[in-house]
Amino acid sequence: MGTSTKSFGSSKRESHDSSVFNGRRILDGLRPKVNGGSATGLPIPPLDATKINRIYCKSSERMTEDLPENSVALVVTSPPYNVGKEYDNDLSLDEYLKLLRKVFDATKKVLEPGGRVCINIANVGRKPYIPLASYVNRIMLEELGYLMRGEILWVKGKSANGSCAWGSWRSAGNPVLRDTHEYILVYSKGQFGRARTGKSSIGADEFLNNSLSVWEMEPESASRVGHPAPFPEELPKRLIEFYTYQDDLVLDPFCGVGTTCVAAKKLNRNYVGYDIKQEYVDMAKERLSTPPPGFAEFQRRATIEGKGAQKFAESLLEKCGFKITARDRKLKGLGIQVSFVAEDKTGRSWYFDVTGAFTSQRAGLKRTDTVFKCLGRASVMAADDDRRYARLVLLTTDLPRKGSSGDQALRATKGRTFFDAIEIGNEQQESRLREYAQGNRDRPIEGFWRPGEYGGPGLAPGDLQVPGSPSSERIEDAIPAAGLPGILPTTSFSLGARRES
Ligand SMILES: C[S@@+](CC[C@H](N)C(=O)[O-])C[C@H]1O[C@@H](n2cnc3c(N)ncnc32)[C@H](O)[C@@H]1O
Repeated sequence: MGTSTKSFGSSKRESHDSSVFNGRRILDGLRPKVNGGSATGLPIPPLDATKINRIYCKSSERMTEDLPENSVALVVTSPPYNVGKEYDNDLSLDEYLKLLRKVFDATKKVLEPGGRVCINIANVGRKPYIPLASYVNRIMLEELGYLMRGEILWVKGKSANGSCAWGSWRSAGNPVLRDTHEYILVYSKGQFGRARTGKSSIGADEFLNNSLSVWEMEPESASRVGHPAPFPEELPKRLIEFYTYQDDLVLDPFCGVGTTCVAAKKLNRNYVGYDIKQEYVDMAKERLSTPPPGFAEFQRRATIEGKGAQKFAESLLEKCGFKITARDRKLKGLGIQVSFVAEDKTGRSWYFDVTGAFTSQRAGLKRTDTVFKCLGRASVMAADDDRRYARLVLLTTDLPRKGSSGDQALRATKGRTFFDAIEIGNEQQESRLREYAQGNRDRPIEGFWRPGEYGGPGLAPGDLQVPGSPSSERIEDAIPAAGLPGILPTTSFSLGARRES
């Protein structure tokens, strides 16, 4: 049975009946006349190919010169902050808000009924703190009549903690808060549901993740992309997959070096960007003409084949010579499951844990929460008395960044919980799988593990194989394994004892 609005709240929401809440007077004046479809009667124009997939070097206040009414499905943008960045004019608060009002008014004209506007904004200043997000809400809701649809809190993680501006140090005199978050404010035009229909491309995992209101994403490095205030590509990617169909038009009216447009292009959406600085427009065009190596190919293959990471991993394992014997196998008595069990050429079982998104959002082990979930499963498997699951390989769409907390956590295991971690879609890394499938590898091949790091089963620390040199003997052959199928026998070679030897 579904849940419904209760006087004291309900602990969960399933098939939630909101009729009690929906009848409350607090919603008076806020309900749109229609929910979805083109009930507004406004025509949904076909896209003009000559006007789209372009970056315009002009003020987005004038975007109605280029884009027809109701043509844009989604706006993803981060307005200038007016805090003295290289591109900022020194506008008064009033002038600044006037610019935003003009741009989001023009945006409303070109936006499809039910189309979303996602505005990434941070509050600025300390003395006083300027709540730009509140000002933007006021403009969008009270002055321009958009409907508020939600507020995503972008938590920027540890790397955003560098600021030392804590005010009075360890004194109640005047300590100040150091923001490690920004907002993504979400609005729609006139109605809740989209007017246009189409084909979505989002997988179940991403949908579940993206529908939560707190997003943890590492910020983009300004020097890497050549703009003082870029957002990470993951930000528009997540919004585009969540809110648009394939071939929809995505607009960024303050596009900087074109991050939104790059994400849209990769996801097979159309795009339009505006920026007033020629230098940024040129960089955006450059980024749009050269897809990054590796990623684009993976993306292309996965998208064309319509496969998710799981499917992709499956065909990869088979291509490398493994014989898949089980998919999504529940491990008896352990309360967990692995993505694949596969046999190498000699009939030994290997276990594969696949993490990461499907066709586009390649978060994988780059997400610290995914790393810890994955390590949780791996340690349960490693604790198996019979060490049946010692050949556990983590397959992921993205390994964590070098030195990140996820990277450190994986390496801290020293191989005691998993055998290797391999990035799918990366030819160089995949070659290790081909070697493991031959059945003559009992030690990880150097790659994820660096020399001196691995201290896993049957090895002294640092004892890695180099690519192309098969192990002289199989550990099962070398060690009386008491009939167990795993790499190590249990008692005579406890990991600690082995590592000290
Ligand atoms: C915060 S940055 C956007 C960065 C972008 N998200 C990225 O990842 O590169 C804001 C941009 O708005 C541009 N801008 C400022 N006023 C503008 C206007 N009237 N029309 C179009 N762009 C404008 C600035 O030049 C700046 O590049």
